Amino acid sequence: MQEIDVYNLFGESGFTRLVAAFYRQVPHDDILGPMYPPNDLPGAEQRLRDFLIYRFGGPPRYIEQRGHPRLRMRHAPFPINREARDRWMQLMTRALDQARLPPDVSAFLLDFFEAVATMMVNRSDAEGR
Ligand code: HEM
Repeated sequence: MQEIDVYNLFGESGFTRLVAAFYRQVPHDDILGPMYPPNDLPGAEQRLRDFLIYRFGGPPRYIEQRGHPRLRMRHAPFPINREARDRWMQLMTRALDQARLPPDVSAFLLDFFEAVATMMVNRSDAEGR
């Protein structure tokens, strides 16, 4: 599948729904909840949404506002071990289910998230405890 197709199929509203469904779960999560800024969840939601829209061929608002993504560096302050990574994927998988995308789009995004989430791991399990 061409990456550009994801944006055309899913659109701004699709990414907005997906990311909203993800962040709805964050405050209630015992591992992820404490990592995210309690007073700026709408801001965090906007950053992830704009990043995904840019990444899949939509308007580059993320780059205009945040510059180069440097995702691994930006995640360095957060203790992301395997458990946190798997929890993030669990919330995103649930959000993807709720978004009811065509199965091939869903599978494509799931693969993308799996790969990037693995790259974000920056602590061994022992350190993360
Ligand atoms: C592996 C588990 C992950 C954890 C625990 C995690 C956690 C976080 C946290 C705590 C923030 C700060 C929230 C904010 O104020 O913006 C953040 C930001 C962000 N995350 Fe993640 N994240 C994970 C994986 C991912 C993945 C897979 C992606 C992309 C596909 C991603 C994309 C982003 C983006 C774009 C930002 C905003 C960066 C910025 O401009 O400052 N994250 N993440």
